[in-house]
Amino acid sequence: MFTEEALKKLDVIVQKYPTKKAALLPALWLAQEEHDGWIPREAMKEIADVLELAPAEVEGVATFYTMYNKVPIGKYHLEVCHNIVCMAVGADALIDHIGEKLGIDKGATTADRKFTLNGAECLGACANAPCMMVGGTYYEDLDFAKTDKILDELARN
Ligand code: FES
Repeated sequence: MFTEEALKKLDVIVQKYPTKKAALLPALWLAQEEHDGWIPREAMKEIADVLELAPAEVEGVATFYTMYNKVPIGKYHLEVCHNIVCMAVGADALIDHIGEKLGIDKGATTADRKFTLNGAECLGACANAPCMMVGGTYYEDLDFAKTDKILDELARN
């Protein structure tokens, strides 16, 4: 699953840590980058081989952290915070609104594979709730109109 170049990158990552096991999180991140934003099971097995870990241990870590996607995702992964502060200012309604606009439920991907919609735990931007992360970009102080504009912009790209 990993290309030769990716395996070289993985080797560089491993060298930075005192033990192979300590490189697990960045190794999973690399796997996700190498596989269009998600981590296939085969890639987890490959990581387990390289880091000399049990496949179940790698899978356990990958499934614990929501930042690792275990299924294919769309070009834009909409992660809308649904934790306490965002929830208090309308996150659930915002998620419903986005779902209606895109025609998908939470956890689903649009047919054109452009958008995946998910809830997320606190994104650390509580002061500007409600908020959403798309890839590495934060969108804050969201309301329906502002969110529609963001989605329309992303849809054009
Ligand atoms: Fe949403 Fe903290 S609760 S960013």
